[in-house]
Amino acid sequence: MKILSPTKTNINLAATAIKSGGLVAFPTETVYGLGANGFDSIAVAKIFEAKNRPSFNPLILHLPSKSYLEQVTTCNNERVMLLIENFLPGPLTLVLPKSKNVPEIVSAGNPTVGIRIPDNKIALDFISACEVPVAAPSANMFGMLSPTTAEHVAEQLGERIDFIIDGGNCNVGVESTIIEFDGNDFHILRHGGLPVEKIEKLLDEKLPFKSDAIKPNSPGQLKSHYAPRVPVAFVDEVNIETVNREKTGILIFSERKKFGDFSSEKILSERGDMEEASANLFNYLHKLEEENLDLILVEKVPEKGLGKAIMDRLVKATNRYK
Ligand code: TXA
Ligand code: MG
Repeated sequence: MKILSPTKTNINLAATAIKSGGLVAFPTETVYGLGANGFDSIAVAKIFEAKNRPSFNPLILHLPSKSYLEQVTTCNNERVMLLIENFLPGPLTLVLPKSKNVPEIVSAGNPTVGIRIPDNKIALDFISACEVPVAAPSANMFGMLSPTTAEHVAEQLGERIDFIIDGGNCNVGVESTIIEFDGNDFHILRHGGLPVEKIEKLLDEKLPFKSDAIKPNSPGQLKSHYAPRVPVAFVDEVNIETVNREKTGILIFSERKKFGDFSSEKILSERGDMEEASANLFNYLHKLEEENLDLILVEKVPEKGLGKAIMDRLVKATNRYK
């Protein structure tokens, strides 16, 4: 594996690897993706192998522009088009009826496919140079934290992939919001980087959340999907008098000192700003995870706008240890 700076030559080099069936991790505005040629089933299979990902999980196709949409979906519904016009490129994945070109391994046998146009210049240049839709999950091992820097990817997947394009920190920092359109209705499959309130406002309707934890068709819906390697608990659900503060770290939303001193302390956003908090979330969890702690305490955040996506990831991180 080689980490590449995002020069034009390197982007072309990485695109050539994709065209010949290889795996390349690349930055997006949400998290780093692990990409393969979305029309090449064998290349896509390598993603599952590299991530140790259960094979029932469908992958998102990343497109360089709206002109690629008709290659991957048969949908031309007006309300869907409205979402596309307003929110793409951006941190939104639409799950839509798939076209015949999309291999079964990408949709995991579903009649639908997840589609996204990332709002990140390096990503768009790279996907555009690939000249095919790029199938990509988040570039982490299955069940681990999503990567928001090239180093996070290198730690988890280093020797399993060809290249990592280094685009620095991801500025949104949580994965895309996923909305499914089944031909009639919209459902939320995952809260993420685009606040659902904005989508509901544009469509002028309230969207139901589809929770399907028993037979998940979206592993982001598994109860404990985003989990650091160290036990994580909500600070208001443990007796903090009894924890060993020297071996405990804390992830605070915005107000320092409320909980006393711990061996390590990270503040998502001193200003209480949700965008800043989202951008720091995985990065700080990764940092705490590396600090040889016995326990990571996390503070709940208000469940409004991006706060819903943050709380969803925190609940999943804590569930692993329940
Ligand atoms: O921000 C993101 O969405 C990042 C970047 C790299 O684009 N990608 C990402 O991919 O988070 P992944 O695979 O880690 O999570 C995507 C989720 C998965 O839970 C997958 O099961 C679900 O989207 N998904 C994809 N296609 C689907 C489909 N056709 N039906 C239902 N769920 C789908
Ligand atoms: Mg993921």
